[in-house]
Amino acid sequence: MIQFIEPIEWKDDVLYVLNQLKLPEVTEINPKRTIEEVFQAIKDMELRGAPLIGIAAAYGMYLGIKDLTTNDHDEFMEVMRQNGDFLAKSRPTAINLFWAIQRMIDKASSLAGESLENKKRILLAEARKIHLEDEEINKKIGINLLSLLEDGMTILTHCNAGSLATSKYGTATSPLYLAREKGMNIKVYVDETRPYLQGARLTAYELSQVGIDVTLICDNMAGFVMSQGKVDAVITGADRVAANGDTANKIGTMTLAVLAKQFGIPFYIAAPTSTIDLSTPSGSEIPIEERSHLEVTDWYGKKIAPDGIKVYNPAFDVTPHDLITAIVTEKGIVYPNYEMNLKKLIEDK
Ligand code: MRU
Repeated sequence: MIQFIEPIEWKDDVLYVLNQLKLPEVTEINPKRTIEEVFQAIKDMELRGAPLIGIAAAYGMYLGIKDLTTNDHDEFMEVMRQNGDFLAKSRPTAINLFWAIQRMIDKASSLAGESLENKKRILLAEARKIHLEDEEINKKIGINLLSLLEDGMTILTHCNAGSLATSKYGTATSPLYLAREKGMNIKVYVDETRPYLQGARLTAYELSQVGIDVTLICDNMAGFVMSQGKVDAVITGADRVAANGDTANKIGTMTLAVLAKQFGIPFYIAAPTSTIDLSTPSGSEIPIEERSHLEVTDWYGKKIAPDGIKVYNPAFDVTPHDLITAIVTEKGIVYPNYEMNLKKLIEDK
């Protein structure tokens, strides 16, 4: 049995968050008791990864109404909507954030006839459900992905789409955990993922903890490693998949897709259906977060660039759909034509 790292835990109306800014050196768990604290944890990337941001936001939506005293449903819904607008400003790219907020609002609006106490109880249950469902979803993504892989293969992944970004199996890491459970031997190259170092600090940490064969490389080594024939498939997560299959994920993902095409290596996106956004037609409409210049100019509090240098720090890029071999979800594997097949996947119950 694999011992998964739990990035969040809900207990007695408190969201306990494993501070990912300090991993792997320091294991620090911080309690979040208010919606404002959850907002800050998402914004500061104390927790991160698209599905986890969604789960935390769902708990945040509950925390935002837990002390409400109004019995008026319209007033209750007004607070829910205001809280949703507030949390939605924490980070712009991962669609799971907006998906989870909307799911909580939709649930609340179906509770007009319920007492205030029942509304709170049912909304907490909805947040718990979102959390628990994620584990099942990730396992199914892993089963689907594993059907595309063979024993002895080597995968390359980028950023962290693992248990630290989700619940249990992760998305891109799910076939690796499942292979480990089955006694298969699948190795993995992990890109360090500048500037936040999700690959080095988080993915290399969580996978090596359970005995998976991990080799860490700097981001600019991926092309050479591929050219040496050392990579059989690239698998990354996603923050938002547009209706035409264009996919936003951690900055550097698109470069890997271009390289994979050059070297004839399959490039797979692993994502739950909650990451697919049919209302965004293509990648050019996906909002891309830009983060502080300090993430680029400083290294653990030490300056590594000249004072006053201009910096551009986009946190995500968009991989064009024609570079993606398949998008693997819990509901199945989607191949091109993405426009048609993603719509079909979402509409099929
Ligand atoms: O900025 P982050 O760390 O939140 O970005 C995370 C990623 O890009 C992940 O690949 C993505 O959210 C998928 S996590 C299953």
